[in-house]
Amino acid sequence: MRKGLTMERIPVSGPWITQKEVDYVSDAVAHAWYGNANIYLERFESAFARYLDVRFAVSLPSCTSAIHLSLSALGIGPGDEVIVPDITWIASAAPITYVGATPVFADIDPKTWCLSANSLADCITPKTKALIPVDLYGNMPDMDALRELAGRHRIAVIEDAAEAIGSEFHKRKAGCFGDTGVFSFHGSKTLTTGEGGMLVTDREDLYRRALFLRDHGRPPGDKMFFNTEVAYKYKMSSMQAALGLAQLERIDELISRKRQIYAWYQSELANTKGVTLNCEPPGTKNTYWMITAIVDSNYGIEKAGLMERMSEKNIDCRPFFHPLSSLPAYKALEQAHRARSRNKVSYEISPYGINLPSGLKMTEDTVKYVCDSFKAILKS
Ligand SMILES: Cc1ncc(COP(=O)(O)O)c(C=O)c1O
Repeated sequence: MRKGLTMERIPVSGPWITQKEVDYVSDAVAHAWYGNANIYLERFESAFARYLDVRFAVSLPSCTSAIHLSLSALGIGPGDEVIVPDITWIASAAPITYVGATPVFADIDPKTWCLSANSLADCITPKTKALIPVDLYGNMPDMDALRELAGRHRIAVIEDAAEAIGSEFHKRKAGCFGDTGVFSFHGSKTLTTGEGGMLVTDREDLYRRALFLRDHGRPPGDKMFFNTEVAYKYKMSSMQAALGLAQLERIDELISRKRQIYAWYQSELANTKGVTLNCEPPGTKNTYWMITAIVDSNYGIEKAGLMERMSEKNIDCRPFFHPLSSLPAYKALEQAHRARSRNKVSYEISPYGINLPSGLKMTEDTVKYVCDSFKAILKS
């Protein structure tokens, strides 16, 4: 075992914070009050919109709230169906329940692990009002096929780019392919504000509605505290925005580091048979939020066992997402029951996948140690 590496656990994820972030946050703590209260929020939102080349960006306390506001702004509610991939974090789907609509869990594509266009087509009904494709672990789905189907059936699209800042499909950035796009800045993400999120859109109606809904149902600038609807309190703080702005100004560096970490993994694992890592199909750019390995079932070890064995070597991993339709949270839902028999790919892949450590502080030596440990476990 490599000297020194046994002392500290290797975290599965984590940010890269420099003096720039410390300076911006300190400045916000000291000065972003009174007449300057919104300065960092405005700078972060406009820089984010410019980065993505979209018209509007709305900072929020989380990506979950961005999905909730997207659904609310689109007017989705009871009696409506919203399609999500079966494989994603529950945050992609939970807001569908918040607004009283029904989640429909579609299968994933075996290569991209993102929503499959064929499965989407099978899940569309006259009740389908929206679709939430997820750019899983930084991978991009076939956006052309998904958007063609959505357009043909007049279904709104909320692109869940929580895990994919900077990823691209045919030179357009993740988050730009829907009526809204949503991002997470949780501490594990490539760009972090601790906790936080962003809703982006080119549609002015959705932008205005999101601003209204995030501030207890009153328009921006209202000085009379006169609420015309019961809504939500979903606002980011200036300190978070300052941290986000500093991170955004370093985004190319953060993404290059993620891609470098992936390249190290790829060269270490290239010759290991029966191990598949995240893909980057032609015409796409993957920012590899989580380096993910699917192991062939012939190895006879599933994700929980793999995680346990890696943990013995001081390496923290995460399980590839369980199909949402398999979770106790959705046990009673008829749609989950249907998904369990329909979504063959989700159920085939999920048991054999783990996220390997890919925190932004990873070094080549650490990646080598992780890969040596992983290969040793597979051989044993
Ligand atoms: C795919 C996906 N969607 C949504 C979210 C929710 O993000 P947040 O934790 O900022 O609400 C996450 C967070 O991990 C995610 O991975």
